[in-house]
This record gives sequence, C-alpha cells and structure tokens, in this order.
Amino acid sequence: MKVVAIASIKGGVGKTATAVNLAAEATRSGVRVLLWDLDPQGSATYLLRAEHRLVGGGAQPLVSGETKLAAEVRATGVEGLHVLPSDLSLRFLDRHLDAAGKPRRRLGKLLAPLEPAYDLVILDCPPGASLGIESALRATHLLLVPVVPTTLAMLTLAHLEELVAERSKGPRLLAHVSMLDRRKKLQRETAAQLGARSDVVEAVVPNTTAVERMGPERAPVRAFAPRSPATAAYEQLWQELTTHLW
Ligand SMILES: Nc1ncnc2c1ncn2[C@@H]1O[C@H](COP(=O)(O)OP(=O)(O)O)[C@@H](O)[C@H]1O
Ligand SMILES: [Mg+2]
Repeated sequence: MKVVAIASIKGGVGKTATAVNLAAEATRSGVRVLLWDLDPQGSATYLLRAEHRLVGGGAQPLVSGETKLAAEVRATGVEGLHVLPSDLSLRFLDRHLDAAGKPRRRLGKLLAPLEPAYDLVILDCPPGASLGIESALRATHLLLVPVVPTTLAMLTLAHLEELVAERSKGPRLLAHVSMLDRRKKLQRETAAQLGARSDVVEAVVPNTTAVERMGPERAPVRAFAPRSPATAAYEQLWQELTTHLW
C-alpha cells in the first residue's frame, strides 16, 4: 500500500482537484484507492458525493483509535475509489494528534490496518504546515505539491522543501504545475522554469472550466469531460507518479 499526500502551504492551488482526479485515474489501472479527506473544508468529500460527517463521533475518536478508519470509509460513484470523509471536527486535528501521543507517527499508525484493502491511499491535506501535515508527511511515500506558476508560489514551494529536508525520513517531494493560464506570459515563463527542475513532473494541469465544473457535477473531470486537456493532464500525472511509486 503506497501513500501519497497532496499538500501545499498555500490554499486554493488545486490540491483537491488533483487528489480527486488522480484517485479516479488510478482506479482505471485497477488500483484500489482510498482518498482520505483531511481538510475540514470537505471539498473532496463533496466532490465525491459523500456526507461531510464522521459517523463515529468525529476526529477525536478516529485519531485516538476508538473508531477504526475502516468504519468511516464510504463507497463513491467511482468504481474502485473509496473516501474517508471530512468532518468539521478535523479543524482540531492537531490537538487530537497531540493528545493521542507520538503525533508525527499517528496517521501512519492509523493507516496500517488498511494495508490489505488498498493499493493506494491519497491524503487530501488542508493548507498550511501544521502538526497534521507533519504527521501526513511521516506516513507518506510521495508528497505531491501542486504549484500555480507564480513567483510567490515558487517561494512557498521552497519553504515546504525546507520542511521536508529537515526530516530524516522525509518523503520524496514532487511538484506539478497547476492551473496554468497560458494567456499570461509571466505564468508561461514561470511554468517553464519549474518544468526545467528535476523535482517537477512533466504533466501540466491547465486552468480550465472543466475542472471548475467538478463542483456542480460532483465528479472527477473524466466522468463528464473525457476529452478535456485537464483529463489528459491528470492521466499523464498518474502515469508519471506510478514510475516513482512502483
Ligand atoms: N486546473 C484548474 N482550472 C480551473 N480551476 C481550477 C483548477 N484547479 C482547481 N480549480 C478551482 O480552484 C479552486 C481551488 O481548487 P482546489 O482544488 O479546491 O484547491 P485546494 O484544494 O488547493 O484549496 C476551486 O474552485 C477549483 O474548482
Ligand atoms: Mg482542498
């Protein structure tokens, strides 16, 4: 079972869009996928048509181990893709991790019993660099960072890289260009700079209405726009990640 965290210190950069579409692409290769929505905003939960609620009493019993992760898992409209839904109580995730002890090891420990059921776990992380993120990184083989091609986003990527480099057992970090607006020269230039780096994959997710339509459609982009350049980009992203994961 491989674990991929989709994370960024920045919000609104396409983490959830990447998590949901990557999960959907992975199922097409017969991979059994669990998407864990760790963001109290619950965007991935909404897009996958699950209820924004943990039935076992919220994040506290889940983190302490009183409620098993498997008991909170839901099927989705995508065959082969399950979701562990978000809940507003996840806003206190750091506090619950701390209370459970060894907070940085906690998420990995909670995921371990799911090993026989899934080939891939995708963690859709909240923005920031909290204890929850550190715990997610510890559980992760690969950290994927969507980067909108702007100067400040590149600066934030450098900060996240510093944070990962501090750790003795940090995950492999890869970035991908997200929400590229090709009409803007500065974005094209910044994307080219990113593309030249060895830690940035080749797949580029364009800024496109198809991805925005995931909101009203409540489905991965392939389900309603299979010929969109975004679908092709997520397919390529998945292909590139498989070579790093297996
Ligand atoms: N490639 C894209 N093209 C256009 N809009 C996008 C794209 N990716 C994400 N969005 C939109 O941007 C907003 C933030 O995306 P989201 O995936 O929720 O980011 P995050 O999880 O990083 O906060 C959403 O409204 C989403 O529909
Ligand atoms: Mg999100």
